[in-house]
This record gives sequence, structure tokens and C-alpha cells, in this order.
Amino acid sequence: MRKDDFPLLKNRKIVYLDSAATSQKPSIVIEAMNDFYTRYNSNVHRGVYSISEEATLEYEKAREKVAEFINALPSEIIFTRGTTESLNLLAYSLIDDLKENDEILLSEMEHHSNLVPWQQLAKKNNIKLKFIHINKNGQLDFDPNLINNKTKIVSLVHVSNVLGTINDIKKIAKEAHDKGALFILDGAQSVGHMKIDVKDLDVDFLAFSSHKMLGPMGIGVLYGKSDLLETMNPFLYGGDMIKQVSLYETRFNDVPWKFEAGTPNVASVIGLKKAIEYINEIGIDDIEKHNRKLVKYTVEKLKKLGIKVYGTPKLNVISFNIDGMHPHDVSSLLNQNRICIRGGHMCCMPLMKKLSVNGVCRVSFNLYNEKKDVDELIKALNEILILAEKNGIAV
Ligand SMILES: Cc1ncc(COP(=O)(O)O)c(C=O)c1O
Repeated sequence: MRKDDFPLLKNRKIVYLDSAATSQKPSIVIEAMNDFYTRYNSNVHRGVYSISEEATLEYEKAREKVAEFINALPSEIIFTRGTTESLNLLAYSLIDDLKENDEILLSEMEHHSNLVPWQQLAKKNNIKLKFIHINKNGQLDFDPNLINNKTKIVSLVHVSNVLGTINDIKKIAKEAHDKGALFILDGAQSVGHMKIDVKDLDVDFLAFSSHKMLGPMGIGVLYGKSDLLETMNPFLYGGDMIKQVSLYETRFNDVPWKFEAGTPNVASVIGLKKAIEYINEIGIDDIEKHNRKLVKYTVEKLKKLGIKVYGTPKLNVISFNIDGMHPHDVSSLLNQNRICIRGGHMCCMPLMKKLSVNGVCRVSFNLYNEKKDVDELIKALNEILILAEKNGIAV
């Protein structure tokens, strides 16, 4: 699907299977950023001269585009550096509303960025962390009794970056709301890969990263329901997030600018807008179908080789291991065939523990991947298996 739109994939003879770490970028994204730097590079919300007004207009148009993409209002879109920063913003802003012995519910399949911030702040404020376990199929084993009147926050990943599981967010968000808790969604692996409608899912907050959805690095989004953002404290303080400052007092800016202190990453915001336009042009449903088909095809092929696949991958991501071989060794051997996959703990150490492994090999897709890429991977893995057998490594 339109591999030619991605200059890196034309310039380097590689099979890129690590899009869950970061996706490649189509030329229109790169060109839009180049255009900003060569034609109207200037700061936003400050200058009253033409190029600054142009930059501000483009920056705010991007906010509208992001809002429309997830069915939100522009004022509900905060630009951050990425999912990690969005989740940290929430942890810092919300934790002060929690009191000792209140509870936060997470799951065993969370990325460290949706675990470590809560862990650190929970420790400081004596707040209890609870976890939804996963079953042997790699799915959340959700028991509604895990949420009670002490639960103040439920924060979950949408699509697991290890197992490729799609969690039933609507059901759990409803349960959270029924018990008066807030629901936060980590959409790092779902936004840009499947249709996301924050109203339909009824999540209070959604965090995601541009660089995983064909956009540039260094920019991400935090969506939050207007009424919640209005009452929350800012996370960073400084320029642009203020309305009035005296030596001892500050009146904060309106939402969303209240949460965007300092000079933002304007070029990347403009790049993200282009990435969304590109995704819209292809069609998010077609992208999802394409990636689901590739996942199904790959899982079948891996299983035919006798390779252990973890969970029941549905979207974008498949993790596996070859018995007796470290994932780093498998990745390095694949690299000799110009195949790029990830090997390691995937920033999910607790999940690795649950799976009783130190790490996994992970293959992940985006719209530019083809069956041909999978065939090359399978061929190379077959050669690795033969080599392992020859060398007496358990396979
Ligand atoms: C599920 C999930 N959450 C959060 C993150 C963190 O994203 P970022 O590094 O862009 O902040 C990742 C990145 O791999 C992820 O896969």
C-alpha cells in the first residue's frame, strides 16, 4: 500500500518491521515541515507580523484537524511531546485530587509510560495501585469488582504494544464511570491504526504519539474532556500558558493553551496535520483492514514454522520467541538480511515477567508493509531455525 510515498523505504533496501517503535514518514509530512522552516519559520501566538500569523494559523488548524480525527473539540486537544508526556501530565495534574488509600486501576500489559508515573506518585501520596490481570490468551481478565468507590482513576492501554490485543475499552470505561472514576486511554498503538471516536468510547482522556502514526517525532496529543481540563492544574509553567502575571500572582491562560507552556514544536504539529490528512485520504478503515490481514498472515506463517506466538494478536503487533535463542540474537541475525524487528522487553517488564520471558521478538506493521515483507521475514527465520538446530540449540 503506497510504499513509494515513503522516501526512507525507497532509499534504504530494508524490510522495516518495527513500526510500533516508530513509523516511517510519507514525503508530504517531511515536505510540510521543510516548508515551515523555509517559508514561515517563526514563533506562534506572539508576533503580529505576517509569517508569525501564518505559523499561528497553521498551528491552530492542526489542532482542529486532530480534534476532527478523534471526534473532539479543538479546545480539548493539548499538544505534548508524546504519549509519555501526556500521561505524565495527567499523573501530575490529577494525583493531588486523590487522598490516601484511594485506588488507581491499571493492567499487567501497560507500557512503562502508563505505569511508572502512577507508581511514583502513588508511592508519594500513599495511593493504592491495582491491576487487571491477563489471561492465557493475552486478554484482560476484567472483573468489575476491581473498581469500587475508592477507585479514582482507571488507566489502560488500547492496543497492547506486545500482544497486539485490542482491549474492550467501552465496557471498562462505562464500569469506571458508573463507580465515579476517571478513565484514561493510552492510544499510542491504536490512534492512526483504527477509527477512534472519543465520544463513542466515552474516555475522559486519550494520550497518543504522532511518530507512531506516520507523523514526526517530538509531538503528541493529550485529549481531555473540556470540563475536566478546565479544573485541572497545569503541568508546566512559563510563557504562553498565562493571561496575566505580576511578581507574586499568575492568572492562567484558557484551555488548551494553559497546558502548553513555552515555545511548542510548531514544525512537528504541522507535520502531524499532514500525516492525518494522508491517513484520511487512504481511509482509516482500509488501513486497519490491511494491518489486520498482515497480522493474520504472519501469525499463520510463524505457527507453521513452530514458533511460539504470544497472546492472540489482532492489530499491528506480533510477539514471538525462538526457544533457546535470545530475542537480541534473533534480531541481529535478521538484521544481516536487512530485516528490522525489535527484540527485548518492549518497555513492558511486568508483562515479560507474566509471560515468564526476559524479552520477545516483535514484528509490527504499518500501511506500507506488504505480504512480501512477511515472506522475507519467514524465509530468514526458517534459516535461523535450521542454523539453531545445526548448533544444537533447542528449537
Ligand atoms: C502502548 C504504548 N504506550 C506508550 C508508549 C510511549 O510512547 P512515546 O515513547 O511516543 O511517548 C508506547 C511506545 O512504544 C507504547 O507502545
